Parts: sequence; structure tokens; C-alpha cells
Amino acid sequence: MIPKETAQAIIETARIDEVVGEFVSLKKRGVNQIGLCPFHNEKTPSFNVNTAKNIFKCFGCGKGGDAVTFLMEHEHFTYPEALRYLAKKYGIPIQEQEQTPEMIQQMNEREGLFNVTEFAKNYFVDLLNNNDNGRAIGLSYFRERGFTPVTIEKFQLGYCLDEWENFSKTAITKGYNVDYLVKSGLSVRKDDGTLFDRFKGRMMFPIHNLSGRTIGFGGRTLITDKAKAAKYINSPESDIYSKSKVLYGLYFSKTAIVQQDACLLVEGYTDVISLHQAGVENVVATSGTALTTDQIKLIARYTKNIVMIYDSDDAGVKASTRGLDMILKEGLNVRIVMLPKGQDPDSFARSNSSTEVRKFIEENAIDFIRFKANLLLKEAAGDPIKKASLLKDIVNIIAIIPDEISRSVYTTECSRILDFPETVLISEINKILRTNFKKQFTDSSASSAAANIDLVETPVPSVEQPIDINEQIAAVEREIIRLLVNYHQSEIFITDAEGVQTTEKVNLAHYIFNVISNDELTFENPLYDLIFQMFSGSVEMENIPSLHHHENENIKQLAIDLMTFPHNISENWQDKGVVIKKEQDENKLSQIVWECLLVFHLYKLEKKIDEQREKLKTEINQENVLISMAKLKEHLDLRVKISNLLGRVVTK
Ligand code: GTP
Ligand code: MN
Repeated sequence: MIPKETAQAIIETARIDEVVGEFVSLKKRGVNQIGLCPFHNEKTPSFNVNTAKNIFKCFGCGKGGDAVTFLMEHEHFTYPEALRYLAKKYGIPIQEQEQTPEMIQQMNEREGLFNVTEFAKNYFVDLLNNNDNGRAIGLSYFRERGFTPVTIEKFQLGYCLDEWENFSKTAITKGYNVDYLVKSGLSVRKDDGTLFDRFKGRMMFPIHNLSGRTIGFGGRTLITDKAKAAKYINSPESDIYSKSKVLYGLYFSKTAIVQQDACLLVEGYTDVISLHQAGVENVVATSGTALTTDQIKLIARYTKNIVMIYDSDDAGVKASTRGLDMILKEGLNVRIVMLPKGQDPDSFARSNSSTEVRKFIEENAIDFIRFKANLLLKEAAGDPIKKASLLKDIVNIIAIIPDEISRSVYTTECSRILDFPETVLISEINKILRTNFKKQFTDSSASSAAANIDLVETPVPSVEQPIDINEQIAAVEREIIRLLVNYHQSEIFITDAEGVQTTEKVNLAHYIFNVISNDELTFENPLYDLIFQMFSGSVEMENIPSLHHHENENIKQLAIDLMTFPHNISENWQDKGVVIKKEQDENKLSQIVWECLLVFHLYKLEKKIDEQREKLKTEINQENVLISMAKLKEHLDLRVKISNLLGRVVTK
């Protein structure tokens, strides 16, 4: 547990530009810094870092927050992980308490799993290096494979003794919780309740999360008989390890991936390790699972370029085609390298220098069209029907690509390589796009990629759309909250009953509270109302809450949205004649506040007028009709008054 005061100190010390700057290349733009958003695909920067407010905001995808939010989103950290990361970065000591067996018991599930996994990793490393059997069997195995001591240490490779319960027993004596041992999969519970070691006699490859903590293991057997033991077994899924969301090696390779703006994708643990040892560090492995969308998204945060490296056997080719579609669908670029016959990345890296490996990849990486075309030409030689069906495959893949320009580049290339008329390809692709596009409206689960496709036929919303009063009210309420959040300390000029600005000044927040309570206006949106109440409660005490660090995620997000410019002022509202003014000027700010409150009042009236009119339509009780009519008249009169103040003409 991190004490509350320490957490606060960490949050206050962390500088958003320094934290974000480690992952995103930022450029100065005025008082802010901007860069390409790491959370969505974009070519022009819309990711803003506001150093004064210590927050970030992307105007493209809407993501925003403080340094902690950024790390949680970008690095998939939990809240305490993000705090620990920042504490380390800024040298803030966290009073971590000494762990007794009782305290280990009490720790929450995730921390408990992390702890037992960390212990196991260190234990296996220790056995490998210091135990007689560990050295004779484990260490010599890695050395024979050509791993250097530096590599073995870097990847924290280990060995689990070939005894049934050596690990489980040791862990229990050290006070580790049996439940966590079982949940982490390190120990397996037998029917009689006793434990045995899942990884008995295996070479241990720890799997790390993005902050370098061990979350699971791959264990390789030394038994060569495939029938007797699976070559590799993995930790089971747990609260800290989800194999479809993890890429082996990413912790060690993320910097190189960003620097080289490319990620090599291989199949196995040893492929990653050997390539690293050969100096090719921008590499990750799926490790035994088929590539998943989550894994692709993970890579996409570091680079848009994936190079798949596969053995040239049939299994390798099949594996690469499966992943291809998914990568393209996520809008990434993908190239494929086929290694020479009989080689895998591990053996290739060991038998070639790092320059040779790089050169080979550079010269042999082909884009997916060429890759597919090669297969096609081989398989379909002289068979027109087969050729047609394979061509359809390619066209289907091109249609998956969300970006229009990439699509057209690939179409041209496909036409050239396969000697097939481009116009025919284009018309085929458009057919698919149209079908997908229509599906969007019938199929709510349609992918976001399909939703992004720009077709010429995109329907234009009708200009005559009726304006929804509730939407307008929501927009003004938001604007009032925005003024409060940004300018609650400002002084503004009071505007008199005739709409003339006086020279008398008042605090903006006080002014807003007074008007709203005098006119008996209430906020309809519960979140805005809550924030308004928070402000009105604290303004008197001059203890304004810093909403952009608020623990409620909705409030925090809203505050950040409202604090960052340009804000999205309602278009309807602009239509009605309220122009966004340069609010930094205090005359203008005063006018904006005044107008804003009047418009709020006006819209609330419009709503009441509508309601009274509806009532009159169905009311039969004579007395009630009279009451409603009186109310309606009152509302209509007030509406004329306010409209005149706002400089508008309203017919009764
Ligand atoms: P070495 O033979 O030690 O070089 O390992 P490798 O990585 O070359 O193994 P291989 O090419 O056979 O398999 C590639 C990857 O698939 C491995 O790194 C494992 O992640 C996974 N894998 C291989 N065999 C098994 C298995 O029997 N079970 C599971 N779950 N995964 C396996
Ligand atoms: Mn291998």
C-alpha cells in the first residue's frame, strides 16, 4: 500500500511533459506541446500536453488525463503501478513495509500473485546459477544453446529442479499463500490437497509486463520425446497474466521498437533472446498463441510497422497469413520475411552477425501483396479458377485496410504484380466496402475499422434537422461549468438589468451562483449539477476542488475536457447568435458569462413553455386550464424580455 500523502506528493511532483515525453515525441506549440497521439492512428498531431495545468488531451480521440492516467492507459499500469513508476522516476521514497508471513496473507490478490511470481523468478534464477543440479543441467543447457551469461541474466532465465515439490515446499516455508501458488499456476493441487511443481525439471523463461515485473513463465522441457512432455508449458491465465494480451520480450524491446519505428514479430522465446543477443533488439514473440488483436494494439502504441519473421516451412507460412488480416485491419503496415530453408530466427541469429541479420531482413521483407502474390502464382500456376479465387482473397484483404491511401497504393501494386486491370480491382474493392458500410447500420457490432471507411456515398445529414431543446440545455450547462472550472477566480464586470456592463466588479463564481439561485435555475445533467454543487459548496471557503485530479473518473475526464482548448461549443448555440469571444479579455469574459446565463434561462423557459402547451392540449379541468394559461403568459413575457436583452426578436 502506498500512503495517501505519498501518492499526493508523487502526483504533484510528476511533470506531464516529462512523463509523456518518454513515450511520445513532443514539439513546442505556443504554451502547449503537441505530438502524434499514441492512443489512435493519426498523421497530423492532435495530442496536446498542457504543462501549466499538468494534463494531456487528444482532440482526435478524446483521451485525456494527468500523468497517472497516461501511464495507466499507455503502459497498462494499475494505479499503484503508475504511482510506483513515477516515484522511481522522481526519486520519491515509498515507505514499503517489511513483509511478514501474515502481511503476505493480507495482500490483495494481484499483489499476492505478483509477489509469489517474483519470488519464483528469483528462486529459479538462483537454482540455475548456484544449485549443483541447476548448473549441471540448466545452465549448461543455456550455454550449449549459445546464450551468454549477460543474456541469461538479462532475460532472468532460470531452472526448476526435477523434483516434485521442491519449489512449492520452499515457497510455503517462506510464508507464501497456497492459494496464490495455485492461482499463479506455479503449484498444482492434487486431489489429496498436496501440491506439486508445475514446471518440474523445466528451463524457465519469465514473462514480463511493461514495467518489467514478472507475470508468468514459459517452461521448456529437456525431454526430447514429444509424446512424453509438451515442449513448452505456460503459466495459466490469472489476474496478472493474460496470454492474449502479452507479447514476450516487449519490456526489453520497446525502446528499440520506437527508435527503429518497426517491430519484428517472431514465434518463440528463444527467437527473441537470440536476436537480442545478436544486437537486433526490436523484436517480440507471441509465444505459442496465435496473434491476437490485443497484441497488435499493444505493438501499435510503439510503431505502425510490423515485420513478421517466419520459418519457411508450411506451418510458418500458415501462421503468418492468419496474423496478416488482423494487422491490416488495425491499420498497421506489415511486411513478411521468410528465412532460408531449415532456419528459424534463433538459429539464423546465431549463425549470422547482427549486420547480416539486419541486412537480410531489410532485403527480404516483402509487403503482403507480394507475399500473397508469390503464393498465388505458385499455387495457381495455369489454373484460372484457382487464380480467380486467390485474387478474391487479396482483394478482400485490401478492403480490410482502413486507410484509403494505403488501400489505393496496394491496389496499384496488386494490379502490377499480377498483371490484372486496376479498374476491375477497384470496382471489386468498392463493392466490398459498400457491403461493409451498409452492414454498419444493421450490425451494431461492426468493427471500428469499417466505421472509418470513407466512401463517396457517405450520407449527408439533413440540414432541416429539428433542434432538440434538451441538447441545447445540456450544451449551455456544460458551458457554464466550463466557465466555472476555468475562471472561478476571475473578477468580472456586473451587467445591469438593461444589459449594460457596469464598472462594478464581482467574482465570477459568486456571480454565477447568485444568478442561478435567484432565477431558480437548476442543472438537468446530474454530473454538471454535482460539479456545480461542489463548486458552490467550496467557493465560500475558498477551497476549490482540483477537479482534474478528482478520484471520480467521470468528473476528472470532464474537467480535463473543459480545461483544454479548443472546446467544442455547441453548434446549435452558435447558430443562435452567440459568438465565442476572446474570453481572456475581462470585458469579453464578463459578457460571455452574462450571455451564457441568459441563454440558459431562455432555454429553460422554452422548455417550460413547451410543457405548458402540451398540458393545455389535454387538460379539461377549467381551473387547471386557467392556471396553465397564466403560467404560459408569464413564461412568454419573460421570454420576450430575455430575448430583447440578448438582442433577438421573438414573436409571441
Ligand atoms: P526451441 O526448440 O527451444 O528453440 O524453442 P522454439 O521457440 O524454437 O520452439 P518452436 O519453434 O517449436 O515453437 C515456437 C513457440 O511456440 C515456442 O517458443 C513456444 O512459445 C510455443 N510452443 C512450442 N511448443 C509448444 C508446446 O508444446 N506447447 C505450448 N503451449 N507452446 C509451445
Ligand atoms: Mn528453436
